[in-house]
Amino acid sequence: MAADGIDLGQVPAHVACVMDGNGRWARARGLPRTEGHAAGEEAMFDTVEGALEIGVKWLTMFAFSTENWRRPPDEVRYLMNFNEGILTRHRDDLDSKGVRIRFAGRRDWRVPKRLLRHMDESTALTAHNHRMTLTICFNYGGRAEIVDAVRSLAVDGVQLDKVDERAIRQRLYWPDMPDPDLVVRTSGEYRISNYLLWQLAYSELVFSDVLWPDFRRENLFDAVREYQRRERRYGGVKR
Ligand code: IPE
Ligand code: IPE
Ligand code: MG
Repeated sequence: MAADGIDLGQVPAHVACVMDGNGRWARARGLPRTEGHAAGEEAMFDTVEGALEIGVKWLTMFAFSTENWRRPPDEVRYLMNFNEGILTRHRDDLDSKGVRIRFAGRRDWRVPKRLLRHMDESTALTAHNHRMTLTICFNYGGRAEIVDAVRSLAVDGVQLDKVDERAIRQRLYWPDMPDPDLVVRTSGEYRISNYLLWQLAYSELVFSDVLWPDFRRENLFDAVREYQRRERRYGGVKR
């Protein structure tokens, strides 16, 4: 079985993915970049299935960053429609599998109203599920999230001596979301690209050379096996 060698008692509770390499996958085939995004859909949902199979409780996926607006308008438009399509195509199936869908990111004027509506509907439809929480980071930036948290502290008039890590955490987009245990970035890039900056403080990072459209649950299992070989110390010493 593909999940062989994974200790099911030590599966990371929260896995966060940076789905990268769609454009390069398409270019290698002489296709437009958007075809790479389209091909990434199967990768995304095979990864969700794999995560369910081994009992991951929280899966977070980076779909569109606050910096991705810098891309050509056609690609941005494609990604908006594509993400809406993903929701209409997969939300019932995710719901039937016990997946709770959430979104993290800024709901600013650039995100089409219709997409926001689909996001809200997907969240409402699946809110009662608790087998796994799938958080889709959309128009998400780690710095923006921290700025939003700090603004909310100010709006609430929190006294300076009450500003601590707990107060900030409570004002992140999803305060109940545990920090990722494992972050997987594909496409051979070794950077964080403004992902979950607060939450990644002690995450284990695994980088894969696979381009996202080629990523499958077996690649997730490889990353989990690598995670299980790591020793997490949180600044302490080995006991
Ligand atoms: C990731 O693939 C998808 C998004 C960022 C939306 P890219 O589109 O970044 O693909 P590359 O990195 O250019 O190959
Ligand atoms: C990170 O990938 C964002 C997403 C996967 C949505 P990018 O392709 O945007 O990151 P950079 O530009 O290579 O750092
Ligand atoms: Mg990229």
